Amino acid sequence: MTDRYAVIGNPIEHSLSPRIHAAFAEQTGEALEYGNVTVPFKERAAALARRPSDRVCLAGAANTLGVDAEGVLWAENTDGVGLVRDLAVNHHYPLAGSRVLVVGAGGAVRGVVRPLLAAAPAHLVIANRTAEKARRLAADLDDPRVSGCGLDELAGERFDLVINGTAAGLRGEVPALPADILAADGWVYDMMYGAEPTAFVRWGLAHGAARALDGLGMLVEQAAESFRLWRGVRPETRPVIHMLKREMAT
Ligand code: ATR
Repeated sequence: MTDRYAVIGNPIEHSLSPRIHAAFAEQTGEALEYGNVTVPFKERAAALARRPSDRVCLAGAANTLGVDAEGVLWAENTDGVGLVRDLAVNHHYPLAGSRVLVVGAGGAVRGVVRPLLAAAPAHLVIANRTAEKARRLAADLDDPRVSGCGLDELAGERFDLVINGTAAGLRGEVPALPADILAADGWVYDMMYGAEPTAFVRWGLAHGAARALDGLGMLVEQAAESFRLWRGVRPETRPVIHMLKREMAT
């Protein structure tokens, strides 16, 4: 029997998720029809679930829903695990002990901060255009390594890794960061992705980033983590990332 999954979102036509899960299912021999929850329904998904995880409670957003053996609806947020796995496993970025700046304080950032902290950075600064939102998120995290501030309070600071979790890229913009924010050999990571290098990836390269990554790997990794929760098998992500990159290039 084929198990059925659904993708929930709007707009949904351009979602790569059904393709990613079809590739995972073929690779692992799991019989399923797929989906994930995407914008703008991540908040609704979190509110619906009777068993939201700790990550979902902090984020107020879920991208993965399932029904357990007792018929209870559970919710998880796999975005942060996806981001950390893309950085640490796919790109061998040494998160432990690093100074990390996360830019943005909306739902996308709330969804990733806990797993980032679990990867043991020395400091995690959350900076947002609206400083108050970053301060509130830092307070919610209640961790001595974390602080929150406005973008205009970053002068003189240096980071090993700058992660863009803002929606600025949707309009081809980049957040207003000091030009010298990156430490020598610093990396940038854009949680967005596209067929062309994103505005933030281009900003990183223009400001001396040793590596500038976009979020395609994170997209595939969060899907793999959802697949693992549903099916108990972790699919290989590398061939799927390469397949999507090849397709986007053409
Ligand atoms: P999401 O769920 O994608 O995180 P959101 O909750 O609306 O969406 O949050 C969008 C984030 O992008 C916010 O951190 C927002 O900053 P503000 O809180 O100050 O609005 C940030 N953002 C959007 N456009 C931006 C821009 N041009 N420059 C800097 N930050 C921007």
